[in-house]
Amino acid sequence: MTAPTAPVTARLAGKVAIVTGGADGIGRAICLRLAEAGAAVVVLDRDSAKAADVAAIIAERGGRAIVAVADVTSESQVAKAVSDSVERFGRIDVLVNNAAIPGAQKPTHEATEAEFDELFDVDVKGVFFCTKHVIPHMKAGGGGSVIHISSINGLVGNKDVPLYHAAKGAVRLMAKTDAVVYAEDKIRFNSIHPGSIRTALSEKLAAVHPDGPDAYFQWLADMHPVGHQGEPDDIAYGAVYLASDESKFVTGTELVIDGGYTAQ
Ligand SMILES: NC(=O)c1ccc[n+]([C@@H]2O[C@H](COP(=O)([O-])OP(=O)(O)OC[C@H]3O[C@@H](n4cnc5c(N)ncnc54)[C@H](O)[C@@H]3O)[C@@H](O)[C@H]2O)c1
Repeated sequence: MTAPTAPVTARLAGKVAIVTGGADGIGRAICLRLAEAGAAVVVLDRDSAKAADVAAIIAERGGRAIVAVADVTSESQVAKAVSDSVERFGRIDVLVNNAAIPGAQKPTHEATEAEFDELFDVDVKGVFFCTKHVIPHMKAGGGGSVIHISSINGLVGNKDVPLYHAAKGAVRLMAKTDAVVYAEDKIRFNSIHPGSIRTALSEKLAAVHPDGPDAYFQWLADMHPVGHQGEPDDIAYGAVYLASDESKFVTGTELVIDGGYTAQ
């Protein structure tokens, strides 16, 4: 006799999620997996065409999604995207702060103020704006889950992109601090720390690597004990867990998904 199975339930049924940088790469995978788990998804990105593609795939699969075209460096665009999301779906339960750029691949003494500002505007100030504008709606709705996509580069240093390391370290601590501040509002904050994932972002870094893309990708593979880069879905499944009530006791923590990179 086979054991009785529990009824199938959608892990994120009834939840509404905003995913920044949802049009491509890891953010795209997160949108698709959150929708598959039952969430209504707002695909927030500055790339309207790619964001529309993601929303269309979700709709074809029977899910619910809208596009919010916004640049996370603009507080007014972020505020509008958040209010449009609430107008459409009535609430916000999950925010995934995923949009980021890798910035200049230069040592600190060669990087310019403009390069510093461009990177921090997207990777840190963008996280601040989106979080700031979502919190009042989460408070009104009785809680929520905010997930900052940091990086292994927010945990350890390396000889590659110093400004990006600094930015990813900043969002790691923003999650911890807000986890403490907003615990009484039942809003959880966590960071995810991906190892290298094959997306447009890593291809951009490869394209400008002094030893060429092949050497760069081999170096990356060698840095990960598993011997290869990860896939966007490796990160998306972690986001589904942190978005769901399965992680209701998890706040202020770091979910490291890195093929063993930081275990060494
Ligand atoms: N790919 C990796 O190896 C890797 C490793 C660790 C962490 N991460 C992090 O994962 C996240 C996603 O990275 P990815 O590799 O999927 O990147 P990606 O370049 O493939 O996609 C980034 C998405 O963000 C959007 N975006 C960029 N700037 C924006 C802005 N100002 N406003 C709105 N949208 C904007 C882009 O249009 C794009 O759709 C980032 O936070 C990145 O730092 C990536």
